[in-house]
Order: sequence, then structure tokens, then C-alpha cells
Amino acid sequence: MNEQGKKVIFSGVQPSGKMTLGNYLGAIKSWTNLQNEYECFFSMVDMHAITVPQDPEVLRNQTIELLAQFIACGIDPEQNTIFIQSHVHQHAELNWALCTMTYMGELNRMTQFKDKSKKSEANLNAGLFTYPVLMAADILLYQADLVPVGDDQKQHLELARELANRFNNKYSETFVVPDGYFPKGTARVMSLQEPLNKMSKSDSNENGYILLAEDEKTTIKKIKRAVTDSIGEVNYTDEQPGLKNLINIYSAISDKTVEDIVKMYEGKGYGAFKGDMAEVVVEKLRSIREKYKYLLENRDYLEQIYVKGAQKAEVRAEKTLKDVYDKIGFIPRKF
Ligand code: AMP
Ligand code: TRP
Repeated sequence: MNEQGKKVIFSGVQPSGKMTLGNYLGAIKSWTNLQNEYECFFSMVDMHAITVPQDPEVLRNQTIELLAQFIACGIDPEQNTIFIQSHVHQHAELNWALCTMTYMGELNRMTQFKDKSKKSEANLNAGLFTYPVLMAADILLYQADLVPVGDDQKQHLELARELANRFNNKYSETFVVPDGYFPKGTARVMSLQEPLNKMSKSDSNENGYILLAEDEKTTIKKIKRAVTDSIGEVNYTDEQPGLKNLINIYSAISDKTVEDIVKMYEGKGYGAFKGDMAEVVVEKLRSIREKYKYLLENRDYLEQIYVKGAQKAEVRAEKTLKDVYDKIGFIPRKF
């Protein structure tokens, strides 16, 4: 809770690629729904992004593009604090303090680390291993009550809760223990090509994901090519995972219920379903895409937002960090 009695939200996205429909439906859409009720901190988490190899120039561009996409998706930059993680040095500092309270075994159990380490054995760096601690630091610095994220972050969030409790019990009440917020139906948007895997911007098959910033024709083509099955009926079941995923996306974008959608396509084939779905998705993304392009041409405006954002974030972050350093036993700086 902040000083005005409003509950606090923290969430972040890595500028490690282009934003996908999975990011939008799993996280950003929830942010837009919650932003009026909460005080929100939203971050482009560039420090997390460098746990896998990044080209410096590309990383810089993607960080700005991500900011433009947040705003294009409907995040109000006046009302919310939007900032670049590396601009607020308290994240790295709290990360360190929390690292000393995290057990190796806890990090060893993280499924995302296990998956990523299989993919990048040549660059199995310690940052990838301690990634969830930095994420805990992000959240706990702002005393966040709620963290809207996709399903893949559940285990990381659990660690943040555990570390908050551990610190509070060892010293005294310091951190708010955050809750997760997961959207219904789209907490795990699946790949359009391999519906048993999540839609991911790092997928080598670009037909597996829809990018917020791609052109309409590409989106339509990807939806029409989406893998389904040979059953031929529009049902919402685990036996038809491709279709189930498409129905979830359709439902979230159109605000129609799953039941309504299944009823609408009774006796119709997948072609009709996909055609309508593509239209709905493209229609929804059109205004986001236009706003995104416009914003990218206004770099000064974007710069103003992330400068103001970091200044505001830092004040809050410093308050928590000071308290933590004091409790740990560090001598306060007198300069
Ligand atoms: P990332 O792109 O990994 O930084 O993820 C940013 C946010 O998007 C996090 O809250 C993720 O949980 C969410 N997210 C990423 N991919 C998906 C997906 N396929 N389905 C639902 N949420 C996702
Ligand atoms: N780990 C998150 C992801 O990959 C991104 C992230 C970093 C985050 N810090 C966070 C999400 C704090 C929520 C809160 O999706």
C-alpha cells in the first residue's frame, strides 16, 4: 500500500526481442485493466535481458520500442511510472542483498533456468542462475502488493514471496509479500505451430508467434497456418490443443466467452473460424500498431517518460533499500 492508501503493482518485460501477442494477453492487457485501481510501476527490464547474449545496439533499440509498445497498448504514462531497470541502481543492490539469503537449491529447482540452460550451454552464466533473485528485488523494492504476469513466472513469484517472508522473519517487518495476478484463459498463450509449447519471442520458427509490430498480412497468414488437428469440429478440449489456444486468444481479444465462440462455429469448419479470428485480431492490433509507429517517431517524448519514470521510481526504491541496509547492519552513508 502506498502513502495514499492505494495498493501497488510492479511488473516488467524484457527488451530481449519484439513483443508478442503472448506478452500482450498474458501481461500487458492485465496492466491496462488494473492501472486505474493501483499505483503501478512498469519496467523495461534490460538487466534481465542480458542474461542471454544481446547485441548492444539492438538492445538499446528494443528497450525504446518496448516503451512505445507499453504506451501503444494503453498504459497511461502520466498515471503510471514507466522506467528502465538499469536506470535505478537500487535493483542491483537489493539483488545482491537477497542473493545472500537465497539457497542454491532454490535456484536449482527453477524450471526456466533448467530450460534456458539446456538451450545456451555455451553461455551458462551466473546471472541466468540468479535471475529470479533480481526479479524478487524488482518487486520487493516497490513494496508491490500485486504482480500481473503470465503463468511462466509463477515459480519466480513464489521465490519473491519466500524471500520477503524470510527477510521479515529474520529482521523485522520490511517487505510486503506480493500476490500474483494471472489472466483467465491467456496466462499461457501457446505457440501457433507447437501448441504444447508457450508462444515465445525467442522461437526459431516465426510462424509460432504473432508480433505486435508485424504487418497485418503476416498476422493473417500466421493465423491461417496455425496448427490444428484432423477432428474438424470447433471444440474447446485438451484433445485439440491448437484449437483451444486459438479459442482462448479469440475470446480474450473479442471479449466473447469461450462457450459463445464454440456455439458460433457449430457445424462450421476451421477455415471460417480462422478467417473470423484473424479479422478480430488484426482489428484489435491495428490501433496499437498505428500508435506504436507514431510514438517511435517521437523519441523526445519517449525519453521524457523514461527519465521522469526513473526519477520517481528511484525515490521509492531508495526508501526500501535504506531500510534493508540498516537492518542488515551496514553503516549509513554520511555523504
Ligand atoms: P518476457 O517477454 O519473458 O519478459 O515476458 C513478459 C511478460 O509476458 C511476463 O509476464 C510473461 O509471463 C508474459 N508472457 C510471455 N510469454 C507469454 C505467453 N506465451 N503467454 C502468456 N504470457 C506470456
Ligand atoms: N522475468 C520476467 C519475464 O521474463 C520479467 C520480469 C523481471 C518481471 N522482473 C519482473 C515480471 C518483476 C514481473 C515482476 O517475463
